[in-house]
Amino acid sequence: MEDANLAAAAEQILRAGGQQHLVVKSFFDEPTFTASHVAYDPATKRAAIVDSVLNFDAASGRTSTHSADAIVEFVSAEGLGVDWLLETHAHADHLSAAPYLQQKLGGKLAIGREITTVQRLFGGVFNFGTEFARDGSQFDRLFDDGDRFSVGDIPAIALHVPGHTPADIAYVIGDAAFIGDTLFMPDYGTARADFPGGDAHQLYRSIRRLLSLPEKTRLFLCHDYKAPNRNVFVWETTVGAQKKSNVHVHDGVAEEAFVAMRQSRDATLDLPDLILPSVQVNVRGGRLPPAEDNGVRYLKLPINAF
Ligand SMILES: [Fe+2]
Repeated sequence: MEDANLAAAAEQILRAGGQQHLVVKSFFDEPTFTASHVAYDPATKRAAIVDSVLNFDAASGRTSTHSADAIVEFVSAEGLGVDWLLETHAHADHLSAAPYLQQKLGGKLAIGREITTVQRLFGGVFNFGTEFARDGSQFDRLFDDGDRFSVGDIPAIALHVPGHTPADIAYVIGDAAFIGDTLFMPDYGTARADFPGGDAHQLYRSIRRLLSLPEKTRLFLCHDYKAPNRNVFVWETTVGAQKKSNVHVHDGVAEEAFVAMRQSRDATLDLPDLILPSVQVNVRGGRLPPAEDNGVRYLKLPINAF
């Protein structure tokens, strides 16, 4: 979808939303710096859960569900019905709790169509066998750019915003957008673009697309890491604030300057602690690999592959 059409579609969604204000309750998982969001229509009590976290202790190989259980508790207490479990991308820093939440709360598990590209990439890296389908069939819905859906009576649209990974999708729901790993808070900047399939040029163009949304659009982020001179975690901002003051891509920063900055910064970054467990679970829609004949599930550790 062209940027002008995107702005028009988003305006249409804002208008169609009328007085219905999407309510967003966020949950922050500090060990992985991840913000998960429950977004719901207060009139119909229908909800979407965006980017949930399954707790994982790498030393012991043990999973737990306290972060997801806090979401289950909130959804139950508010009497919400879950229609969607939305993933913005295959995360490299935390395991998704979407299958766990789906089992507890229902809803359709969705991600961007290009997850199949990410599945092929990491299917190769991890040398997965044919039991691992690379066709996105682990998900209930694969969103293409411009696909419409709704949360209760509030209209929504999926936007393909590649760059951090080839498959990133942003979800515009009413007057809010859930933008995954594209922009971070204005004082922190932008997501890295150096993972397999990442591309700083694409990331820049995706970000400019997001910044073509109406200025008052509320932006909900997937992560926050605090920032120099800021000692609290924040995961909500606006298009207007990003255009004015994002330290990496405020209005006026050209693509080449952004790409040079992003590439030199990425070259200094360590890989996320949980990248190897995360990607091999998240490309399976957040499911662990099948159990072996002793009943135990195993994750792989490719040596010298990264
Ligand atoms: Fe990410």
